[in-house]
Amino acid sequence: RGGLNGAYHSYAETEQELLRLERDYPAVLRLFRLGTSLEGRTIFALKISDRPALDEDEPEVLFLGCHHAREWISVEVPLLFARHLAEHWATDADVRRSLEEAEIWIVPLVNPDGLDYSIQTYRWWRKNRRYNADGSFGVDLNRNYAYMWGADDDGSSPAPSSEVYRGAGPFSEPETAVVRELCRERSFLTVVSYHSYGQLILYPWGWTDQPSPRAALDRALAVRMAELIRAVNGRDYAPEPASQLYLTNGDTVDYIGGTLGIPAFTVE
Ligand code: ARG
Ligand code: ZN
Repeated sequence: RGGLNGAYHSYAETEQELLRLERDYPAVLRLFRLGTSLEGRTIFALKISDRPALDEDEPEVLFLGCHHAREWISVEVPLLFARHLAEHWATDADVRRSLEEAEIWIVPLVNPDGLDYSIQTYRWWRKNRRYNADGSFGVDLNRNYAYMWGADDDGSSPAPSSEVYRGAGPFSEPETAVVRELCRERSFLTVVSYHSYGQLILYPWGWTDQPSPRAALDRALAVRMAELIRAVNGRDYAPEPASQLYLTNGDTVDYIGGTLGIPAFTVE
C-alpha cells in the first residue's frame, strides 16, 4: 500500500485506522484518548469487548506498541490484532468467546512523535522528542518507568544524548505517564509490550539477572505463548528472562511486574 510510509502506518494513518475501526465496529470497540505526547499528538487506546461501553467485571489485558520510534512493526502487530478481533468476532467462535469473557485494551502507538520523526527525518530514531537541557533530543521511553529507575548506569544512561537516556525523573515523559495512568485505572491481568527485533518473549527482570518472585509462572506463560505462535506459522520465539538479552532499568515490564505484581512480557 502506498501511504506516507508504504505499508507501515504513520501517526496520522494510525489515527485514521483507529477511527475507521471505531466507526465500523461499534458493537465491540471503543476508542479512548489517553493523553497527548510532548508535541501534542494523541495517544489512543482501543477497548475491544462485547458491550464495550460497559465496564464489565471481566479479566482485562493490555497490549502496547511502539515505545521505540524506529520499531515500525511494533505498531502494526497490535493494530492488526485489533483489526482481526473486530473483523472476526461475529464469525469466529474463539474470538467471540474472548470478547465475551475479557476486555482487551490496545495502545498501538505509545511514541507518536518519535515514530513520525523516524519516518520523515531519521530512520534510526529511537527515543521520544524531548528537548533536553543540554540541547540534545529524546528520552528512551523504555527506561523512563519508575520501578528501579536509574538503578545503575549500565541498564540506562543519565546522559541526555545517550540512546538509552532515562529522562530527568521516573515518568518525566507524558508518553509513559499515560501508560501508568491506564494501568492504575484498570486492573490488568497481564501486559504485553511489542518491540522489534528478535523473536524473543522476555519476562522480568530486566534490571538484574536474579530471578523475579514470579519467574516460574512468567516462564510457563512465555513458553506457552511460544508454542501457540509455533503452531500458527512454525516460527520460533525464545522465552527468556529479559536480563539475558542485556540489562535495562526503568523498562515497561519491570514496572508492570514489580509494581502491579502481574505477568508482563516484552515480545521482540
Ligand atoms: N529491546 C528493548 C529495549 O532495549 C527491550 C528490552 C527488554 N529488557 C531487557 N532487559 N532486555 O528497551
Ligand atoms: Zn525496542
